[in-house]
Amino acid sequence: MSARAPLKLALLISGRGSNMTAILRAALAQEIAAHPAIVISDRVSAAGLASARELGVAAAAWRGEARQGTFEEMLLATLEEVQPEAIALAGFMRILSPAVVTRYLGRMLNIHPSLLPAYRGLHTHARVLAAGDTEHGASVHFVIPELDAGPVILQSKVAVLPADTEAALAARVLATEHVIYPRVIDWLGTGRLVWRAGAPWLDGRRLETPIVEDFRAASVGG
Ligand code: GAR
Repeated sequence: MSARAPLKLALLISGRGSNMTAILRAALAQEIAAHPAIVISDRVSAAGLASARELGVAAAAWRGEARQGTFEEMLLATLEEVQPEAIALAGFMRILSPAVVTRYLGRMLNIHPSLLPAYRGLHTHARVLAAGDTEHGASVHFVIPELDAGPVILQSKVAVLPADTEAALAARVLATEHVIYPRVIDWLGTGRLVWRAGAPWLDGRRLETPIVEDFRAASVGG
């Protein structure tokens, strides 16, 4: 247990928020060194907003969110007020402008459902199935202005099974997301993970390649 205060965290979501819930639960149980200060959604209808409030975490969303400028103005004003030390994008489907990303460079994480650099963008599970890949997974990475291109910290690897549907594969990957994302946030919170000179460092060493956790033999996600 580190002596420092837990990392003050803002979480950005767009939908169901299962990654957000995994992070909130771990933080509230003091299993990770993070204090969730606020959840922000770019969609007022995001189911994760209610889940956050049920866990006692403040949640915000604004009508008129369709205009990028409006959302980012509200977002920045809120972040200015809350002053989080780090931001976790958790199923946040809006592309943030380079100005916002640069402002939080080295302090903003994202989870993406593929083994980056493979399959940036959308519909990763369907694309993996269409390609006939035998392995798939998720990646936690620092956010840079280029989409899904920031340095990857930790990846989960799962098997693609012959009978997989898109939904089955997505569920298998998602279960591992709930393991790896809280872990990376804990690394940031404890100071094991830092951003220095434009690169991630873990335990005092520059992270040249992602750490890969192999879930292929694990039962997580079924
Ligand atoms: C997750 O699979 C996450 O990796 C993905 O959306 C899902 C959100 O689920 N994110 C992206 O595709 C980002 N480009 P959740 O709302 O239940 O966490």
